[in-house]
Amino acid sequence: MTGKPYTFDILLDEGTLSNYDNHLVRKLSDLKGYFNDREAYQSMLGVEEAVLYDVYELHRPELAGELLHGISIIHPGKVGSEYFMTKGHFHTVIETSEVYHCLKGEGVMIMETPEGEWAVEPLSSGKVLYVPPRWAHRSVNTGADEDLVMFFAYPGNAGHDYGSIERQGFRQLVTEIDGKLELVKNPRWLRPEER
Ligand code: F6R
Ligand code: ZN
Repeated sequence: MTGKPYTFDILLDEGTLSNYDNHLVRKLSDLKGYFNDREAYQSMLGVEEAVLYDVYELHRPELAGELLHGISIIHPGKVGSEYFMTKGHFHTVIETSEVYHCLKGEGVMIMETPEGEWAVEPLSSGKVLYVPPRWAHRSVNTGADEDLVMFFAYPGNAGHDYGSIERQGFRQLVTEIDGKLELVKNPRWLRPEER
């Protein structure tokens, strides 16, 4: 890590960075309980340990004045009818935001606030997405056979709070029904006053 300015390249064809400190690999077994179709999850796990997504990051101090940055690569695939996706999280410091720049592929970002307001934004090469403070976010690859690659940057002090999303998921599931993307109500989701 350096205090000096630097540049690096995003190697899109290779799906990596010219320079990075951390490579996170999230496999199917890391997302136990996240997909709605438990039977499909179990039977898929019995056959293969699919990699759902990779994250490459440069290490920066976890300070408010820093911007943590890197790329996420969500691979194509489905568990039952639900597309491969990231775990999703709130930032621990909930008043922190995040910016994404989609570089390749097709997908959506599903987002919601602690009060249950939700939003979904399409992602395709060239799109920039701003996730305001207070919005939990999950990236979903809705493409048939291409990786969804995004550059991200967020405040160094943000932190990650996976708790409530791990327990009950987002309000909407991103699924494919009859070959088309459909948002389906998540049966496990509870309103804040029901939790
Ligand atoms: C950082 C951020 C992304 C995600 C990455 C993996 O705040 O939102 O870098 O960390 O897309 O997703 P999660 O962390 O939800 O598994
Ligand atoms: Zn985040």
